[in-house]
Amino acid sequence: MLRAGELVAFPTETVYGLGGDATSDIAVARIFEAKGRPSFNPLIVHVPDASAARALAVLDARAERMAERFWPGPLSLVLQRASHCPVSLLASAGLDTLAIRVPAHPLALALLRATGRPLAAPSANRSGRVSPTTSAHVIAELDGRIAAVLDGGPCQVGIESTVLDLSGNEPTVLRPGGIAREEIEAVLGPVAMAGLAGTAPRSPGMLESHYAPRQPLRLDVVAARPGEALLGFGPGKAPEGFREVRWLSRSGDLTEAAANLFASLRVLDRPDVIGIAVMPIPQHGLGAAINDRLRRAAAPRGP
Ligand code: TXA
Ligand code: MG
Repeated sequence: MLRAGELVAFPTETVYGLGGDATSDIAVARIFEAKGRPSFNPLIVHVPDASAARALAVLDARAERMAERFWPGPLSLVLQRASHCPVSLLASAGLDTLAIRVPAHPLALALLRATGRPLAAPSANRSGRVSPTTSAHVIAELDGRIAAVLDGGPCQVGIESTVLDLSGNEPTVLRPGGIAREEIEAVLGPVAMAGLAGTAPRSPGMLESHYAPRQPLRLDVVAARPGEALLGFGPGKAPEGFREVRWLSRSGDLTEAAANLFASLRVLDRPDVIGIAVMPIPQHGLGAAINDRLRRAAAPRGP
């Protein structure tokens, strides 16, 4: 189906991807169509190993070190496209760079090898909605718009890959994700964070309201408002008076919280609650990525 230009959703260790042949303009166009995503937003291209990445993009010494250390894994590298890069320009949204990663999931790797094509795969949700971490989430949003879903059970990491831009002189994290900034800095030294301290967002995916449940979100909550549901984070007790409580992690484990984040938001995003309140989440490690997602979900909605 993928070789025929159809779309197949597949599991990765982060979230489910909406896969299409990255070398086919029509397949990539179908991805944007299925997602209802603005077409200026470039996609991540998935490959089975670093040598497949070298056929598509220029890996300098920094990129080679990052690939060696973190692939397969939740790190996407933004690199200069190779001179005869076969990937559709639409996947790069017209940029001369490409975001590439090797997913750490046996089904994803088997699919990439069997297909023999790089697969462009954004998260398999409609644009602006939370990312899917089970095949049921994918079907709920994309049934009728894609040919198939490969079911690999729930995703382990539960939050998207970190997007690291190595296309310029200064390594820059464009999107926080499954690999913490501290882990990257242990290999590369200091890296910049895009979109902080008034800098313009460099990744078009960093739109403020990109991750939006339908119900309003209230962050750093310590007391209930009538009708709200609570997204809890331990190890402390949940404040009383909420219509329903879902724990990101009862014990205060940030890795567990990341794995539960999108599924919990979906469960609480119901018409009979008036909003979702979220307990404070610490900012270190994966907490930075979780808070980034929550802040976006809580941001005022665009038109
Ligand atoms: O974990 C993940 O990364 C998942 C799974 C399926 O691999 N994929 C995913 O893809 O989250 P997507 O398309 O939803 O997010 C791609 C992110 C966006 O923020 C996009 O703007 C950025 O990567 N991006 C992609 N190509 C880029 C480029 N050439 N330059 C700058 N940013 C880029
Ligand atoms: Mg997404």
